[in-house]
Amino acid sequence: MCSPVLYDIGLEAAIGELASQTQEKFGIECRMIEGGQTRQIDEDLKGLLFKCTHELLKNVIKHARAEHIVVRMSYQDNIVFIAVDDDGFGFDARILANDSNKSTGVGLFGMRERLRMVGGEVDVRSDLCVGTSITISCPVQKK
Ligand SMILES: Nc1ncnc2c1ncn2[C@@H]1O[C@H](COP(=O)(O)OP(=O)(O)O)[C@@H](O)[C@H]1O
Ligand SMILES: [Mg+2]
Repeated sequence: MCSPVLYDIGLEAAIGELASQTQEKFGIECRMIEGGQTRQIDEDLKGLLFKCTHELLKNVIKHARAEHIVVRMSYQDNIVFIAVDDDGFGFDARILANDSNKSTGVGLFGMRERLRMVGGEVDVRSDLCVGTSITISCPVQKK
């Protein structure tokens, strides 16, 4: 999805669209749940959050063999949270501690670094044969 569309329809709608496209294209049930009142998010943060959510969904398609995906978007005070949960294979999140993966600049490492620069983070929970839940979060307005 190109940036003008994202800015026109807003982040919630754009991520909802991404969820629908994922379901149509890959035949995986992909639901979006929105929680709480929406907040104004800085334009460049919207782009970053959209890209990260897209990467999380691509990871589910590529690695998880899941049947269901739930994308949850919520706010707590000044922080926006986007969680992508799947019921797929899961993985050993300790591989993320291996520095040799860091160089690629994309995927979960790149995400973590880019979010850190705006005061955000990535929280990975995964259980083998149960599924994976990855939550990205960051303050909605840059200081
Ligand atoms: N939803 C998921 N289900 C299972 N494994 C995952 C999931 N997301 C990430 N992974 C694992 O974490 C690794 C790192 O992901 P990522 O940094 O995006 O790199 P890439 O997708 O290029 O392999 C993947 O190779 C995969 O083993
Ligand atoms: Mg990836």
